[in-house]
Amino acid sequence: MSVDYTFPEGFWWGSATSATQIEGAASQGGKGQNIWDYWYAKEPNRFFEGVGPETTSNFYYTYQEDIKRMKEIGHNTFRFSISWSRLIPGGKGEINQEAVQFYNRVIDELMAHDIEPFVNLFHFDMPLEMQEIGGWENREVVDLFVEYANTCFELFGDRVKKWFTFNEPIVPVEGGYLYDFHYPNVVDAKRAIQVGYNTMIANAKSIKAFRFHQFDESQIGVILNLTPSYPRSQNPADLKASQIADLFFNRSFLDPAVLGKYPQELIKLLEEHGHLPQTEEGDAVLMEANTVDLLGVNYYQPRRVKAKDHLPNPYSPFMPDWFFDNYEMPGRKMNKYRGWEIYEKGIYDIMMNLKENYGNIESFVSENGMGVQDEGRFIQDGIIEDDYRIEFIKGHLQWLHQAIEEGCNAKGYHLWSFMDNWSWMNAYKNRYGFFSVDIETKERKPKKSAYFIKQVADKNGF
Ligand code: BG6
Repeated sequence: MSVDYTFPEGFWWGSATSATQIEGAASQGGKGQNIWDYWYAKEPNRFFEGVGPETTSNFYYTYQEDIKRMKEIGHNTFRFSISWSRLIPGGKGEINQEAVQFYNRVIDELMAHDIEPFVNLFHFDMPLEMQEIGGWENREVVDLFVEYANTCFELFGDRVKKWFTFNEPIVPVEGGYLYDFHYPNVVDAKRAIQVGYNTMIANAKSIKAFRFHQFDESQIGVILNLTPSYPRSQNPADLKASQIADLFFNRSFLDPAVLGKYPQELIKLLEEHGHLPQTEEGDAVLMEANTVDLLGVNYYQPRRVKAKDHLPNPYSPFMPDWFFDNYEMPGRKMNKYRGWEIYEKGIYDIMMNLKENYGNIESFVSENGMGVQDEGRFIQDGIIEDDYRIEFIKGHLQWLHQAIEEGCNAKGYHLWSFMDNWSWMNAYKNRYGFFSVDIETKERKPKKSAYFIKQVADKNGF
């Protein structure tokens, strides 16, 4: 394979996962319940084929073999998350020593294979007891999260050098408080805004706690799913709609995380509609003083936006959707196996935006991937021939490479995901892994893309 796209030396090649989605052992090893265990027990039918978070690839038991597989496909980095409810059942109080041993073993095993652990502290998995006292709406939960984060820094900070406070903090806001796809299934924009705000306070406070340790060469960041917002046309109404979508879905997290403050336009808009969140004295100073060192960018698809055809009914409850409509651009390229748009250049636009407007913050693609339903139909001679995924990865890497050529500070690429995993309400509907997983037998098999990424990692390009 001749190399046309070479990446900077030391580029991070790896993949991303999360505790609830791969560990299994949901009620073992002393783990407490989180909102997923609870919600599944309550409403199993909301989950694809009735499959819940107890049914995963069982990484809790198989991490050694899995890490060996990571090495075999050339990973030099791997992202996983710590489960708050496993480490501190109930969210506060005693530390579960079985969990400490488990995460220690995972970290040590990764390092023994020269794979750098990237550790995320929260991937949608609120301990049930914390949700019962209000979850992110309650500032007490914010402080308990910071205690949990600090416990992780103390326990694992001697070896872990890349920390992340949250994965996609907007998703629990959208899922849990706007659009009913996460527990607690509230639909209320005012509460949603408070949840988003408090999450960013938790981010800033955790960063502050992290800095106190003065670890050598360690960095802390946040992982955001950025969806570039493209207007239907250049007419002022479409442009405005697209800017507002960008404010709600990107800048409401990106700006406080990287610049340490909310965009004025967003504050004004929320103020006009009586939807500013409750704040406490000192919040603004806290946020400004505790911004991230590193940004993980999850990118799947862009947002296409148009002005609303009709003005919203002013008596209907306030929602972000008051200000814009999503728009299905004719001729857009689709991942027809998942129903999401594929727009590879989006990754370039995100990176150039970070370069131009966010101080060229150090970043990496922390998730990018192609979900496919019924992927078994692509098996030939016992292997899933996922050429579509290889094309998808190549397309995004080309644009990432272009952004790097133009000076953006991107350091790596992680696929979602290492192996097929359980996903929130969708369970095993959409498969994303370099390795397929048989849900019954737990057998893993490399897909064609696993061989491809090995070559890419070995040559540091393709
Ligand atoms: C990402 C999340 O946004 O999307 C993952 O970080 C999730 O946790 C992934 O699994 C894919 O989602 P889905 O719904 O296609 O399975």
